Amino acid sequence: MVKVINVLEKANEDGEALTFNDIRLKTGYSDILPVDVNLESKFSRNVPLKIPIVSAPMDTVTEYELARELAILGGLGILHRNLSPEDQQFHVHKVKYHLHGFIREPVCVKGDRTIQSILLEKEKQKYGFDSFPVLDSNGRLVGLLTGNDFMFCDDLSSAAGEIMTKEVITARTETNIEEAYRIMKEKKKKVLPLIDDDRKVTGLYTFKDLKRIISGESNMYNTDVRGQLRVGAAIGVGNDAFNRLELLVKANVDVVVIDTSHGDTKSVIDTLIEIKSKYPDLDVVVGNISEADSAMRLIKAGADGLRVGQGGGSICTTRVVTGTGCPQVTAIYNCVKPAEEAEIPVCADGGLQYSGDIAVAIGVGAHSVMMGNMLAGTRESPGEEIFDEGKTWKEYRGMGSEEAMLTGEGSRERYLQGGDVRGKFVPEGVSGRVELKGSLKQVIHQYVGGLRHSMGLQGARNINELREKADFWRITHSGDIESHPHNVRITRDPPNYQPLQK
Ligand code: XMP
Repeated sequence: MVKVINVLEKANEDGEALTFNDIRLKTGYSDILPVDVNLESKFSRNVPLKIPIVSAPMDTVTEYELARELAILGGLGILHRNLSPEDQQFHVHKVKYHLHGFIREPVCVKGDRTIQSILLEKEKQKYGFDSFPVLDSNGRLVGLLTGNDFMFCDDLSSAAGEIMTKEVITARTETNIEEAYRIMKEKKKKVLPLIDDDRKVTGLYTFKDLKRIISGESNMYNTDVRGQLRVGAAIGVGNDAFNRLELLVKANVDVVVIDTSHGDTKSVIDTLIEIKSKYPDLDVVVGNISEADSAMRLIKAGADGLRVGQGGGSICTTRVVTGTGCPQVTAIYNCVKPAEEAEIPVCADGGLQYSGDIAVAIGVGAHSVMMGNMLAGTRESPGEEIFDEGKTWKEYRGMGSEEAMLTGEGSRERYLQGGDVRGKFVPEGVSGRVELKGSLKQVIHQYVGGLRHSMGLQGARNINELREKADFWRITHSGDIESHPHNVRITRDPPNYQPLQK
């Protein structure tokens, strides 16, 4: 049901748009403890989240290391598109093949292939594993090539069939996870191929990841139906989109994001319609937008999710360079209304500074938040750690900054600019650095902790209840000052608070 938030309705009536520091959630009756709240949500129609946090497709934020760790923590990473299509596919592989609980179509080799050709293929395809079922000329399982077989092989021209391990423990196709785990533990085997009556390979279990699943250690992982970590990728419009899509879909990407600075355009809508006709089963999130009419046009064209936010990001200069853009909380509120009617999730992108802003964005109606700055400067974000002024930093830059446009075709396309000469671009973002925040795990612990505590204060058991129950005060500048520590010199850096920096 579409919710009415009085302070935002009133602001709309007065032609005013509000953002995070203009409002605060009202507390409500609660019989719920922060530890008991459920943070599951959705990024798009068919892509769930265990925590409502998504990383921005920016070249100083999301490559495979951060996307992998974020999915392990329950969120979702969106790989940036300053990577070439091939490199982007590689990063998807690195996330998808990080866990191998059950592999439906394991890579098998024929017995007459040489070890050299298998090693070359392994390198080319960037396989991160070294167990290969070996098949005879009829496609039947005859052995297994293992890490040991490769290690002790002196002659790379040997055929797989000569050096493979011939005594292979197998199980039947219908073997479930518990049974597979029991067999592998008992026989001390790292992999367990599944076969049918004809000895055709029908799947493969790997012990390390099964152990994680069985022990419950991976309950929070955001995984797909095959038990692989979820990951998304940014694409452009027209040719860029279709060049990337073929490779991304092959790599089993979970969702793509048409990543533009203005999503309400003919080229984005045409691209969206074409993608949905060619890949009807692939979820496509579209953005960025900040007006209800734009949301309606993208929903009509087939969007599976909306990315909302224009010019509110910490590195954005769009609003001052172009004089355009709606402050973020009003933008979320206005786009949520049509999205709610169409049952499409909204991701609130940009402008978040504290964990409380996550609760505000969701309270206004978003299903998830997208972060650039709040995840930049973690150990897993791309880039070198720089030591300067007695502190450690990492680079964080706008995708529309001169530096990003100089190095990336994706950035140039996002901001509709050609050429590659400094001084010729009209940047819509800045380049800078942020202090090293520590590991992603520590950082997410604080963000999720803040959200949980907020939900405790609202009496919201889950994300939908927060979306439905939340109500707001509009606050004054004095109220905002009061909200931050004041009249005190902070002597220790708290793990979840830094005074706002200009
Ligand atoms: P935060 O506040 O998390 O915002 O740093 C991240 C979001 O900002 C957008 N983005 C840009 N917007 N110029 C812009 O106007 C830029 O150079 C730029 N780079 C990123 C993007 O939506 C991202 O998710």
